[in-house]
Amino acid sequence: MTNRPEPAPAGSTASHWRDVYATRPTDEVSWFQTEPRPSLDLIRAALPQGSAGGSAIDVGGGASPLAAHLVRDGWFDHVTVLDISAKALETARATAQDPAGAIRWLHADLLTWRPDRTFDLWHDRAVFHFLTAPSDRAKYLATLREALAPGGTVILGTFAPEGPTHCSGLPVARYSTDELAAELGGDFTPLDARTQVHHTPAGASQTFSWLTARRR
Ligand SMILES: C[S@@+](CC[C@H](N)C(=O)[O-])C[C@H]1O[C@@H](n2cnc3c(N)ncnc32)[C@H](O)[C@@H]1O
Repeated sequence: MTNRPEPAPAGSTASHWRDVYATRPTDEVSWFQTEPRPSLDLIRAALPQGSAGGSAIDVGGGASPLAAHLVRDGWFDHVTVLDISAKALETARATAQDPAGAIRWLHADLLTWRPDRTFDLWHDRAVFHFLTAPSDRAKYLATLREALAPGGTVILGTFAPEGPTHCSGLPVARYSTDELAAELGGDFTPLDARTQVHHTPAGASQTFSWLTARRR
């Protein structure tokens, strides 16, 4: 386990995100949030009553403060933040208060990474929707199944059908909550489905679909 990002993955996806985070302040990117809502609300709702501890992974967590909230509030003993951008991870790490070292900052490409442990929660805001090739979605879902413990919870947030066609200059696949449930397949039970409008720093509105589901 490390608090420092690990060596850089190769490839065009990595260079795209390296350039994005090198050229744009993290509080000006379209997905910036001062507070990670509705993620915090959805995670709290999915936690078993009175539970604390357990483990979570935020895939493509970027510079989001979500992991810091999760350990600060004692909801999880361990959180892995995985991202293809080392700069984004460094930004998040620099502001996270984590004296116990509960957060692992993992520099990796989600599509080639092999989980080295399991997690009780898998959280993804605005990453799955970049996977426009069926083969990439299949890899993602295989990794999700490998990483998520039986009975674990997955929370996926993607652009909704009425949302933007592109994010960060890349084309995206858009989903209704029913379509997200179908992507996950029959071994997941949907617990919560909602839409949310995100307001970007530039003043645009983006509709997201959010699905929470439990693995059987
Ligand atoms: C739109 S941003 C969302 C960031 C974060 N989830 C949030 O809500 O603030 C997408 C993030 O996914 C990361 N990403 C894109 N493709 C990835 C991949 N194949 N493996 C790991 N991270 C990836 C990017 O570096 C970026 O930080």
